[in-house]
Amino acid sequence: MNLRLSVLTGLAAVSLLGAARAASPAVTIDPTPPLMLGSAWYPEQWPEEQWESDLSYMQQAGMNMVRIGEFAWSSLEPSEGNYSLDWMERAIEAAARHGMVVILGTPTDTPPAWLTTKYPEVLRVGEDGRQLQHGSRRHFSIGSEKYRELCAQIVTRMAERFGHNPHVIAWQIGNEYTEDSFDPESRARFHAWLEDKYGSVDALNKHWVTAYWSQTYDDFSQIPMTTGRANPGLSLDYKRFVTDTWRSFQRNQLDVLRAHVAPGQLITTNLGGLGWANRFNRQQIAADLDVISWDEYLGSGYDDVSKNGTGHLNPYRSGSTHDLVRGWRQQNFWVMEMAPGFVDWSPTASNSLDKGETRAMTWHAIAHGADCVAYWQWRSALNGQEQYHGSLVGPDGTPVPVFEEIAQAGAEFARMGDKLADTTPESDVALLHDYDSRWAIDFNRFSRRYDQMEVLQSYYQALRDQTQSVDIVVPLAPLNRYKLVVAPSLNVISADVAQHLIDYVKAGGHLVLGPRSGMKNGFNALNQERQPGPLVPTLGARVEQFYALLEPVPVAGEWGKGTIDIWAEIFDSLAPDTEVLMRYGAGNAWLEGKPAVVTRRVGAGRITYIGAVLDSSLMATTAARLVTDAGIEPVRLDVPAGVSVGRRVGADREVFVVINLADGPREFALPGAMADLLNGGQVERLELPRYGVAVVSRPKA
Ligand code: GAL
Repeated sequence: MNLRLSVLTGLAAVSLLGAARAASPAVTIDPTPPLMLGSAWYPEQWPEEQWESDLSYMQQAGMNMVRIGEFAWSSLEPSEGNYSLDWMERAIEAAARHGMVVILGTPTDTPPAWLTTKYPEVLRVGEDGRQLQHGSRRHFSIGSEKYRELCAQIVTRMAERFGHNPHVIAWQIGNEYTEDSFDPESRARFHAWLEDKYGSVDALNKHWVTAYWSQTYDDFSQIPMTTGRANPGLSLDYKRFVTDTWRSFQRNQLDVLRAHVAPGQLITTNLGGLGWANRFNRQQIAADLDVISWDEYLGSGYDDVSKNGTGHLNPYRSGSTHDLVRGWRQQNFWVMEMAPGFVDWSPTASNSLDKGETRAMTWHAIAHGADCVAYWQWRSALNGQEQYHGSLVGPDGTPVPVFEEIAQAGAEFARMGDKLADTTPESDVALLHDYDSRWAIDFNRFSRRYDQMEVLQSYYQALRDQTQSVDIVVPLAPLNRYKLVVAPSLNVISADVAQHLIDYVKAGGHLVLGPRSGMKNGFNALNQERQPGPLVPTLGARVEQFYALLEPVPVAGEWGKGTIDIWAEIFDSLAPDTEVLMRYGAGNAWLEGKPAVVTRRVGAGRITYIGAVLDSSLMATTAARLVTDAGIEPVRLDVPAGVSVGRRVGADREVFVVINLADGPREFALPGAMADLLNGGQVERLELPRYGVAVVSRPKA
């Protein structure tokens, strides 16, 4: 427990420092532009006499924001306690002279060589027991108290110097939180975390059912730290521990910043590895910040080129990721990094987006609720690990071909700022995304064919086609604003989540559960009531058995006919008022004739359980049915396939961002005359070339 004591002492010292600064003169921070376009710029890599040229080109591209500093520790503190912040101040002032506000990164993703040489204990240790060395980034341990102390020192210096600089509108803590560490200090933290949670090792043994395979522990220190196939209770708690460790790592810097910086300066971090990455619970990280930002890259993770095939913009995949990020705080967000054309790390081909596609992707983010898009990076670094990456200007500092289309977006952003100010996407439908469930299924997929993200995506796509707007939120988010809530794979249902969902249904909502719902409790142990666990009494039915399938099986009933595949659950113990909507047909004797979809009215609302993975056409008719039954207005703009529509709503207006992602030009009628915000005047039809963008608006009905 010494460890926890020292955390507290460290934080207290920082807050005292902050109290001393509270008397600083009030300054007015530059207003955050309602729409920001910018890029990551690394002035520390370039001779100062070249800054003007860089900034002039940024201004020419219509940029109104620049992000600096996030990897600059060795330039800010060249040796321990020897700070060099003047260059940063000059860079901020120069950017301001060119009409740009600044987002300042804390450089804690890249501890300098003097630091790791003097304090080697702060270096990250991989799960294989190997300690990282200097020469890359992310080589620190998030659990190291010494590292947190050193972070607090550099951030304090920066905050004292720039916390009241009027041109600094926001701070970014670190960069793309990624790796956890397996060093001895982190292990001690894990054991302390478990002790805090369970109080006694007996309680832990009970919830994890450690009698299984004689896993019973006598002492917290015996518990392994592993991401391998472990006890499911341990695996789930390890993820929560990593979340809490990142959260306290972040809090250490947040406390410094909050104590020193003017209230007008917002605090964020750029969550990377794509929004769906699930090393830790990103929604909980987001909860502590003022604004959430993420880095949208195609070509890895959920947007894997091997799945996507191309590395081009897939509006459903990118769109669902934006919606997920927006849902963490149920507010607009920033895209802190986007590749201008191409990355340099794609596992297959770092192919370029097509001509026009980067601008389309930029507007696509805005359509889904982004208020900022920044590119990574401004200028090709002459050396370092990312020499080939897409940029706006080349190593010589003059524009590359994609510059022109980004400049077009810049000019458009400048005109659209006040039109899009105070608007946000609105939806009647929510999908639930839950990290505990996500992890629980990933620890044991049971069938390699069951890809829960594909299942979620199939619901998202079908519902978005119907409504042009879907929110993605955590189960405990306020749900009463939604007419329809769909939980595609809510595997873990704790008592509080169950109560929240029951309240939603009773108050008049329609809750739709997908396969694998409610198998597990909050300790990742099987629910003895069977599925959907604590919702069995509400549903008036339980899953009698689940089956992983290798072949499709027909289903038929009130929603029509189709096939299901991959996963099938059969229901029994039906209450008299629980209806069977669909039944399995012939082909698999375990399933034949058994209920596949059941539903029940409860209070003013309804609960439905779809026990199988539907084929795409049955999914489309199901989504249409669910949307109509919930009284949700159908598609707002009737557009051809391949044209993507995002709707942002303000107090008095609706703004539609319409993007043609089809393989050629498309022309179509609008439901009535609308203001053409990009070109002026009123339009009743849109004619869009491939990758063409229109922003149209009408008064709110
Ligand atoms: C991001 C990272 C940037 C840069 C970029 C390249 O993940 O935050 O610093 O490395 O990738 O695509």
